[in-house]
Amino acid sequence: MSLGSGAVFAVLFYLWGHELLPRAAGRWGGTFPFVGAVALTLAVALFLSEWFGFAGREVRKVRLAARDFLFLCSLALLLFFAAKAVIDLLSELPALQHGVPTRVYAYLIPLPAFAMVVRVLINSETSILFTVAASVLSAAAASGRWPALLFLLLAGTAGAARARRVPDRYRMLLAGAQTAPVCALAAAALEFSFHGGGGVLWAGIFGAVNGLLSGPIALAVMPVAESAFGYASDIRLMELSGTGHPLLSRLMRETPGTFHHSVMVGTLAEAGAHAIGANPVLCRVAALYHDIGKLGKPQYYSENQFGAGNVHDVLSPGLSRAVILSHVKEGIRLAGEFRLGERITEIIGQHHGTSLLYCFLDKAKPMIRDGKASEEMFRYPGPKPRTREAAIIMLADAAEAAVRSLDRPAPQEVDATVTGIVNRIYLDGQLNDCDLTLRDLHAVGRAISQVLAAVAHGRVDYPEAGKGGIG
Ligand SMILES: [Fe+2]
Ligand SMILES: [Fe+2]
Repeated sequence: MSLGSGAVFAVLFYLWGHELLPRAAGRWGGTFPFVGAVALTLAVALFLSEWFGFAGREVRKVRLAARDFLFLCSLALLLFFAAKAVIDLLSELPALQHGVPTRVYAYLIPLPAFAMVVRVLINSETSILFTVAASVLSAAAASGRWPALLFLLLAGTAGAARARRVPDRYRMLLAGAQTAPVCALAAAALEFSFHGGGGVLWAGIFGAVNGLLSGPIALAVMPVAESAFGYASDIRLMELSGTGHPLLSRLMRETPGTFHHSVMVGTLAEAGAHAIGANPVLCRVAALYHDIGKLGKPQYYSENQFGAGNVHDVLSPGLSRAVILSHVKEGIRLAGEFRLGERITEIIGQHHGTSLLYCFLDKAKPMIRDGKASEEMFRYPGPKPRTREAAIIMLADAAEAAVRSLDRPAPQEVDATVTGIVNRIYLDGQLNDCDLTLRDLHAVGRAISQVLAAVAHGRVDYPEAGKGGIG
């Protein structure tokens, strides 16, 4: 893939390279007419790899995988060529040739849209880095003019800043519309300060159009980026949350207990995410899918046994362990098969971290004593949660299972159980690899226990027919 995209960009550089960096003078230029394009490709590749490489390694919240690196470089180069095409095409249009200075076309370069896409698909820190790199490159397409560079830096930042949480298409269009006045003002001010009054009106109009179009452009680019690079935006997550999805409808039909548990975990995790400013959409939707690996073997999990005998009573602890541990691996496999995206797949893999299968540990004590098994064998393979959202789902999952086993608990009892679960997970070191502070942990625990207490309180026993009051 990287070789393919490299070849595409080399051809594009060859087509336009001679304009930006004319063929080298003298003998070398005559012998190798494309030397300018090669030099430009090298320079741009060096710039992008140094810039994103340094930030990806050293900036804690940027940590770029190879896929992100490829995505950002492709997007920056795409923007560069889109900028060149926009400027070249518009300067050719006869209708616009009178009265519109060529330089103001630079205010149409769609950087805000691309910065919004990066923020929605990766994160805000990366969108700032992208805005700087893409501004420098795209300003080169506008003959390296200062007003163009300053405008792109400002417009990209403004676009990214307004695309905070985008759970649907309307919010994306709204973010673009809110960017438009900033872009219009910036373009008009820069045009006036650098070139006087001649093109101020056109600069303002082009800036506004750029902002207004950023929403639709971002909406068009995002699905392509999602399917090519495996990202999952909040919009995609919302689409996945409908029970019409084949995996969720199977979960509902074949493992109703697990489905109910997943919906509850989603509600708890969403409340936890709201409490600490994590992503509530990701928490709710990933929770819906966190136990899809239980499909196919529902009777092995307590939530689906509905009072029928426990199959583990007749199984050896070793066999029970193998079946239960396999639901994480099977979940990751199903997530890949149904293309749920990396964010959900990672959470499925991390929702138990390396925690112990406490329910079988007691039964396995004799085996451990005789040296036939070790406690480590009864741990999930991990990894531990690496994001705040994965940690919240781990806490919500364990708390829901623990409180479910209580019979009509009082709020204090719910609170004590949740606190016990949170402390056990923390002391077991399961939260060592994520960015959850102790304050966050406390806030998430409190939010989860409030929701659980409310749900437990709401379970009203209906009076038998004929004995109750009216209503
Ligand atoms: Fe699970
Ligand atoms: Fe679960």
